[in-house]
Amino acid sequence: MATVRMRLMGLSCLLVLSQLGDAKRERGNRADLEPGQRMKMPYEPKSVFRFYTGGDNMEETCVLELFQTHTFEACGFNSTHPLLIITHGWSVDGMMEIWVTKLATALKTSLQDVNVVITDWLPLAHQHYPVAATNTRVVGQDIAHLLRWLQDFLQYPASKVHLIGYSLGAHISGFAGSYLGDSIEVGRITGLDPAGPLFEGMSSTDRLSPDDARFVDAIHTFTQERMGLSVGIKQPVAHFDFYPNGGAFQPGCHLHVTNLYAHLTQYGLMGFEQTVKCAHERSVHLFIDSLLNKDKQSMAYRCRDDSAFENGLCLDCRKNRCNKLGYDIKRVRTATSKKLFLKTRSQMPYKLYHYQFRIQFISQIETTDPSLTIKLVGTKGDSEQQSINFIEEISGNKTYSFLITLDTDIGELMMLKFHWEGSPVWTNVWNRMQTFVPWGQDARGPKLTVGKIRVKSGETQEK
Ligand SMILES: *[C@@H]1O[C@H](CO)[C@@H](O)[C@H](O)[C@H]1NC(C)=O
Ligand SMILES: *[C@@H]1O[C@H](CO)[C@@H](O)[C@H](O)[C@H]1NC(C)=O
Repeated sequence: MATVRMRLMGLSCLLVLSQLGDAKRERGNRADLEPGQRMKMPYEPKSVFRFYTGGDNMEETCVLELFQTHTFEACGFNSTHPLLIITHGWSVDGMMEIWVTKLATALKTSLQDVNVVITDWLPLAHQHYPVAATNTRVVGQDIAHLLRWLQDFLQYPASKVHLIGYSLGAHISGFAGSYLGDSIEVGRITGLDPAGPLFEGMSSTDRLSPDDARFVDAIHTFTQERMGLSVGIKQPVAHFDFYPNGGAFQPGCHLHVTNLYAHLTQYGLMGFEQTVKCAHERSVHLFIDSLLNKDKQSMAYRCRDDSAFENGLCLDCRKNRCNKLGYDIKRVRTATSKKLFLKTRSQMPYKLYHYQFRIQFISQIETTDPSLTIKLVGTKGDSEQQSINFIEEISGNKTYSFLITLDTDIGELMMLKFHWEGSPVWTNVWNRMQTFVPWGQDARGPKLTVGKIRVKSGETQEK
């Protein structure tokens, strides 16, 4: 039927794509992937699989050819080692981005006994975005064929495979997993800021989803909306979905935004691209960080949303409510997607230490807008002065909760130092009052005292 239509309409490309869509929807129908059929008509991948051999030059990679066992031997593929496949995203300039080799190097140096392969789909990615987005299914097919062939001919199980995809590459990895069908399961997929446009809100079969591998994790770093679209997908697509700094935007990238117009005049569109890339690509660097700084693994905490997290309400680790961001994540298959939040630094190492503060105020006055700084003293060192901004005014006798992050490990908390400044308005009134009313010493000061303070460390879970 499809062939007939193809001849009639001559829209071969579109039809092949819609056929692929059908194959994905009908999960049982994997006829095009059965070994027998494939032997009759060898599959020609559109992507190039580059085996990473070290160094930071893409030309040094060794090309693996599907159905050509000798290329796997020649490249040095070791079937006792796990396989990691890195897949890039949409390409504006048709060039392999620098992060690809950075990630490959980090995987190789940190894990050593691994096979690292880079999916090169640049010709299909260097297109208008909607075309590149449609091509993700083609590339997903390519990877699925590679994995099936590895299993059938080299007895290499897909469970030893970890697909790592950035942006559109995240959905490619998802399609690869689902094209394999129910009999073969990819070990793990990591989606690095999976692309949003044309994937947000789609059904689970039309984007990366937890069904695509034994374990799926995703890091969302640029979900800020502009004109109703966000570069990174906002919705959860994995077993564990990480939203560093809320996921919308990333620290250290603001600088680029304020310089956006300067960038635009100087570099044209490339300036804009740099700005966009900073937060989008942060997902990759957070993952690299987890490989390179093993002693500084970032911890993230399950939370309803970012504002609850900002109030420090979510630093709980019981029942898998917290997990490590990056390579060393604890692989727990959860029934539903879990949204995890954390704060990070603006550069590597990204780790921050999270503390929840709960302060009870006893107030004699109606409302006040206090300015408070806290210094934490621990067994390994002191923190800087942290200023606390209360979202609401302090009124009556209430307990306030907020989050404080430190970029150093201060060890066990021993002491807290508070510094208090009354609001300028209050001080003003107080000064005037003083002039007219000669109160005694005991009546001085703002009538606001601190009752109970509770501190909880997210990283150590100590209270
Ligand atoms: C594969 O790796 C193992 C151990 O890591 C090693 O003993 C073996 O020689 C390697 N095989 C090849 C073909 O290099
Ligand atoms: C807060 O509690 C103190 C004593 O516990 C009481 O004197 C004061 O009136 C209370 N303030 C308000 C605003 O309820």
